Amino acid sequence: AKLNTVAKMSGKKYFGTATDNPELDDTAYTAILNDNRQFGQLTPANSMKWDATEPARGTFTFTEGDQIANLAKSNGQLLRGHNCVWHNQLPSWVTSGNFDAPTLQSIITTHCSTVVGHYKGQPITTRVNIVSLMSHHAEPFNDDGTFQTDVFFETLNTSYITTALNAAKAADPSTKLYINEFNIEFEGTDSTAMQNLIKSLKSAGTQIDGIGMQFHMIVGELPGGLASNMQAFASLGVEVAITELDIRMTLPATAALYEQQKADYQTVISACQSVSECIGITIWDWTDEFSWIPGTFAGQGAACPWDATFLRKPAFDGIVAGF
Ligand code: G3I
Repeated sequence: AKLNTVAKMSGKKYFGTATDNPELDDTAYTAILNDNRQFGQLTPANSMKWDATEPARGTFTFTEGDQIANLAKSNGQLLRGHNCVWHNQLPSWVTSGNFDAPTLQSIITTHCSTVVGHYKGQPITTRVNIVSLMSHHAEPFNDDGTFQTDVFFETLNTSYITTALNAAKAADPSTKLYINEFNIEFEGTDSTAMQNLIKSLKSAGTQIDGIGMQFHMIVGELPGGLASNMQAFASLGVEVAITELDIRMTLPATAALYEQQKADYQTVISACQSVSECIGITIWDWTDEFSWIPGTFAGQGAACPWDATFLRKPAFDGIVAGF
């Protein structure tokens, strides 16, 4: 069984993975990445972010983003864009610019419309009549459900979200507009805050099509109520996607931790499987070799369904079982 095949047979649009440009030089890696029965969708982990795409004001560089977009196209895989406004990985001209509100608003409009417009028409499948997926924001909230006091919020309050969504929609009316967030995978302050944001966007007439739930989880510590939380979002009239799934552990990995990880992957997949508005699942790279976890959480890792030598772990079977 291969993951995208199983996902599609189970009624989902895709099973996909993040990838990053430096990894594409590894031919053993790309041999698996390029198999669209395994991965029906790609997300660029870094190369469509603001620092990569507009390093100087008004100067756009798409070489690396295009490498992944073109790879998806030639593999017959969907593309999920990532991302247009985020507080992290900004070029210094954005953070240190001291722009007034109208100027920053126009900077966001130019950035989002140029990036989204550049990828307009990227096929999400080889068939027509399926939406184009671009996730345009990430992480507007702090852990306590208040908004991040980043450069955007400080200058524009929450209006930057509407500005970005409107710019993206104008640049590519057929794209799906997503807000991508962590800490909203379970019921609680952040999930409620995000649901309130969706309600207020919708009541103001702003288009919002979907919510990306990141799902960076810890083995043995999955929160409960995953499906009912997804359903609460779906009930607001948005689709849901799992956008950055990985389940990390404290190293060294053991057989027991691998078994718990398998069960945890199965639990996450089956939550999505039980909610028809959960359209698909993306893992945040498929191999421990290129996972972001060890570089960020010292002593932790082994978060992906394939190990660092590209062998499948029990987690792979947990994913299949979850569908
Ligand atoms: O490009 C430089 C390189 O020139 C330099 O030599 C090297 C030395 O550290 O750093 C390289 O930049 C790194 C970049 O990835 C590209 O590899 C950064 O240090 C590193 O911090 C950055 O990490 C990325 C992280 O976002 C930054 O926040 C991860 O690869 C990426 O997987 C991760 O993805 C995010 C999502 O976008 C949003 N949700 C959370 C998720 C995990 O943090």
